Amino acid sequence: MSVRIQRVSAIQKESLSMPEDKNLLQMNREDLRSLEDAISACRLCPLSQSRTLAVPGAGPAPARLMLVGEAPGREEDLSGKPFVGRAGRLLDAALEQAGLDRSEIFITSVIKCRPPNNRKPLKKETTSCLPYLEAQIKIVRPKVVCLLGNTAAAAVLGRQGIQALRGRIWQERFVVTYHPAAVLRNKNLMADFVSDLERLNSLQDK
Ligand code: URA
Repeated sequence: MSVRIQRVSAIQKESLSMPEDKNLLQMNREDLRSLEDAISACRLCPLSQSRTLAVPGAGPAPARLMLVGEAPGREEDLSGKPFVGRAGRLLDAALEQAGLDRSEIFITSVIKCRPPNNRKPLKKETTSCLPYLEAQIKIVRPKVVCLLGNTAAAAVLGRQGIQALRGRIWQERFVVTYHPAAVLRNKNLMADFVSDLERLNSLQDK
């Protein structure tokens, strides 16, 4: 896992090389579109055979804030858009309560194709898909990346245990909170979830 951490921090430190005749915004959009095309055509793991659509992610590039979930569910698989099902509606409500505008946030998940019956992603699926997230971080260049739930925290930070991971900044830009699906299952978590999102609001402006 330390290799993975090194890879993510390498992304943080690396700057995009840019031809002088292109402006940064245009580069970001073009890079993101090429990456989306690669994800949509990806055949690196067997989930590509069972998916309807891959779900690369959505949002602006650059963006100050990125949210990273676990994996697409049924509605995401059908629409190709992240967080549009029940968990997505809860996320929308929480973002609104926290004063965050979803249209300004880049939203994606660790793996881009739906696992059958919404099971947890397998290690080998995460390993094949993680380079796409790393490339997205490089292109979107978010100031803060919020990892939603244990799958995202384990994939990126190599750590699990939301209670212990919340409330700290990891490797200068990662924060961890609950996955919206966990909040759906236990509504008592909503107040803490909203307060974690509120904190993002101030971190992204620092
Ligand atoms: N859960 C996720 O982690 N990602 C989605 O896009 C939808 C639900």
